[in-house]
Amino acid sequence: MSTADAVTFWDGVYAARPAATNPRPNYLLTETVSRLSPGDALDLGCGDGGDALWLARRGWHVTAVDISAVAVARLADLARSHGVGDQVVAERHDLSESFPLGGFDLICAHYLHTPVDLDKATVLRLAAHALRPGGRLLVVDHGSTAPWSWNQDLDVEYPTPREVAADLALEPATWRVERVDAPRRIATGPDGRTAEVTDHVLLIHRTARAAPTTENTVSTIPLRKRRDDTPPPRTGSSETETLRAFLDYLRTSIAAKVDGAPEPQVRTAAVPSGTNLLGLLNHLTFVERSMFLGDPVTDWQATFQAPPADSVAVVVGRYRATVERANDFLDGCTDLNAPVPRARPGRPAPSVRWALTHLIEETGRHAGHADILRELIDGTTGR
Ligand SMILES: C[S@@+](CC[C@H](N)C(=O)[O-])C[C@H]1O[C@@H](n2cnc3c(N)ncnc32)[C@H](O)[C@@H]1O
Repeated sequence: MSTADAVTFWDGVYAARPAATNPRPNYLLTETVSRLSPGDALDLGCGDGGDALWLARRGWHVTAVDISAVAVARLADLARSHGVGDQVVAERHDLSESFPLGGFDLICAHYLHTPVDLDKATVLRLAAHALRPGGRLLVVDHGSTAPWSWNQDLDVEYPTPREVAADLALEPATWRVERVDAPRRIATGPDGRTAEVTDHVLLIHRTARAAPTTENTVSTIPLRKRRDDTPPPRTGSSETETLRAFLDYLRTSIAAKVDGAPEPQVRTAAVPSGTNLLGLLNHLTFVERSMFLGDPVTDWQATFQAPPADSVAVVVGRYRATVERANDFLDGCTDLNAPVPRARPGRPAPSVRWALTHLIEETGRHAGHADILRELIDGTTGR
């Protein structure tokens, strides 16, 4: 099955049933999260949104993502009607192509099963890296199949939670496995039928930032232990979709590369020219603002240094917010030949096509710099 088939499949699943008005949360979520203080949460494969709503009602700010546009639109409506619209951001993502920006205190993935090929280990590794120190990743999978499931392949063997954990190959000094087990429960199907099923539960706690190195010199590069490569996006055929998907891919990549990088190395010059990891993202924030929002920039060189008082999370958050505003502008733009908001002094404003192409080139170039700088800092690799 292709990505397009996956979208059709899951949109079909949700469109075939009425929108849920009060979807229930998964019990393993409520059991695990009740003891945690609210923060920022990410729900991967949110479906009807029972988990996202429950979290929002308990004070969490939730980013809920799903491949199905039907599910995402329904959840956004539902959150508004339940009075938690400002605490739930419902975003459409095919997790084989893109991963939400930002750092999170809780990430959950309940029954992220699909008939389409999905490299779940890569998705969950990205999730583990998107956790803030102190954050938790809860993965609940099927251990057995309910009689009403779309998957009636009797030969299917679900990986055990230990196997899932081993696939993630996470550094034990930074991530600790808190729970691996396979509880049984009585499940109720859509038609009221009940059956005993097994769940596979994995709970991972990010205990620390990746260990900092003592010097920023080539001789201190730790051995690379894993690679978190996200493949380039598969896109529709239109020029706009292609340009925007590749720009989003690079934006996500560089923000993830900066997120969680240790202080003070994240802002320390790694080469004589002064280039540093946090400064690159700060600079790109100004490039996005200038190009898509028309904000003037007087000293481009100064943008390569993030304000000393701003933490990594603040700089990453500002980049993400700017990207959202730039995307709002691009969403409203139907003609790639249209000019971007501001004419450069003495020159006509470039077209949206030129601006998108330039941003892809600029973000890609700095994402490559960021790859090298991050590896120099703590050995983290992958794109
Ligand atoms: C079995 S449902 C589970 C839904 C929900 N987490 C729950 O516990 O009820 C799997 C969900 O994953 C979503 N999904 C499947 N493949 C996906 C992908 N590649 N990217 C994002 N979501 C995906 C589906 O649309 C569906 O909502």
